[in-house]
Amino acid sequence: MKKTLVLLTFSLFLFGASAQKFENLAQTPPMGWNSWNKYACDVNEALIAGMADAMVSSGMKDVGYDYIVIDDCWQVARDENGEIVVDKDRFPHGMKALVDYVHSKGLKFGIYSCAGTLTCQGRPGGRGHEYQDARTYAKWGVDFLKYDWCNSSTQNAKASYSTMRDALHAAGRPIVFSLCEWGANRPWEWAAEVGQLWRTTGDISDSWNSMIDIFNQQKHLARYAGPGHWNDPDMLEVGNGGMTTEEYKTHFSLWCMLAAPLMAGNDLQNMTPETKSILLNKEIIALDQDPLGKQATCYRDNSDYQIWIKELANDEKAICLLNKSDEKKTVLVDFELLSGSLSKFNVRDLWEHQDLKLKTGSIYVELLPHSVKVYRFIKK
Ligand code: GLA
Repeated sequence: MKKTLVLLTFSLFLFGASAQKFENLAQTPPMGWNSWNKYACDVNEALIAGMADAMVSSGMKDVGYDYIVIDDCWQVARDENGEIVVDKDRFPHGMKALVDYVHSKGLKFGIYSCAGTLTCQGRPGGRGHEYQDARTYAKWGVDFLKYDWCNSSTQNAKASYSTMRDALHAAGRPIVFSLCEWGANRPWEWAAEVGQLWRTTGDISDSWNSMIDIFNQQKHLARYAGPGHWNDPDMLEVGNGGMTTEEYKTHFSLWCMLAAPLMAGNDLQNMTPETKSILLNKEIIALDQDPLGKQATCYRDNSDYQIWIKELANDEKAICLLNKSDEKKTVLVDFELLSGSLSKFNVRDLWEHQDLKLKTGSIYVELLPHSVKVYRFIKK
């Protein structure tokens, strides 16, 4: 009896001890760049190093972007010991050297793998190699792991992702764990104790319809998000060419209202002034990165016209007026009502970068097709 108790305590210690995620990571939504949206499988060390350079020289680092994440296709095989093999043609200096380079720029490094036997592009997955891979990532100095869900057959999602969480924890290096099972198993209900962020939908593509469709699916998820555990509506398409500037402004504003991870997915080395003015809009980013960590909720839904509200620290809040329709709309906005008490606040337009000069509590606002207006109530 005593022996059983000792054994039980010992195994609880052994297995219970590592059954946790790293705490205090991603207290605000992670910001960075990921290779997938623009480059898909066409990744190599020069490209990744160039993006790290551009993240610094473009000013993105200064406004908070700090993860450089290589998505699928960096890996080609496993060796006779089961160790993951990096594509030597594309990464001739190996992964550790690239990680060191990214770190030397004051940035963090993210990598991609998959809970199934193969990644979505048919490269070796993590299934059965979780502890070994976690040790490898820790040895390389990886800071972020995106973990996909292709070729997972009948695997249980919570169990599979928990195994990798435990493996990362056992490897000892704090690594942000990004679950990517596309919302298939309602990760918002169980993943807060597994990772720091979880995808809520299938993949985004570079079009208004795809973006707004994903946005529509976030409406009931606000209560699951908070510091250290975020809903992830997928990476940004801003600057990739498939939407208008107005639509990209909407995309970026909505993601910030949602307290979504902000992973740019464009060519950082060749950004137009418009793209830069969106990705570098500090006042919009501040909504995303607000320390209260609340995801916006829908306050009014008139189908293609909506009002979203995001509560912010210091009893401030942001409101976003969204025109999803193909036509211009003029709407009456009651700032007195929306603010709770207008005398306490200045109302700032976060795209015009100026405070409104209000003579009355409500005004008419014109919204272009597929556009937003984003205001912040700032305490006087
Ligand atoms: C899945 C993910 C994408 C991307 C690709 C890579 O589709 O959802 O974000 O990582 O795999 O193959």
